[in-house]
Amino acid sequence: MGTKGREIVGEHLDRVLELLNKAFADEWLAYYQYWIGAKVVEGPMKDAVIAELMQHAADELRHADMISNRIIQLGGTPLVTPKQWYEWTNCGYEAPENPFVEMVLEQNISGEQCAISVYNSIIAEIGLKDPVTYNIAVQILEDEVEHEEDLQALLVDLGVILKK
Ligand SMILES: [Fe+2]
Ligand SMILES: [Fe+2]
Repeated sequence: MGTKGREIVGEHLDRVLELLNKAFADEWLAYYQYWIGAKVVEGPMKDAVIAELMQHAADELRHADMISNRIIQLGGTPLVTPKQWYEWTNCGYEAPENPFVEMVLEQNISGEQCAISVYNSIIAEIGLKDPVTYNIAVQILEDEVEHEEDLQALLVDLGVILKK
């Protein structure tokens, strides 16, 4: 990245890189949770659910790509080993040990609700200290809000009463 481009982030650089790498860990874990969920899920409306989970997996991988590009642009290094994903994550990982469709959807909804909180707080903290990262976080937040909506709509189609 150009020197002026990095200079405007200034004293906030370390914190911005920390927030980005934590979000990066979340995105990889979310990607895998969706991907493996789409493989193992069982129950009614399975095909529609698989299509949605795979679409979300692709979005989470794209988010990881956007975040890693920004980390590198700022002169940082994205986490280089999967072990670090667990050490850095905000939202963790929920294994789809129960493959029933309702359980898999509930797990992914709680993941999205965590992601929405995380990006919302990143946006609030970063603000105009780093408008480029701010913009990336806003774009990702828009997707996470849509993800939660899509998954809850599937639950409603399955006849489940939403808890929250
Ligand atoms: Fe994401
Ligand atoms: Fe998402």
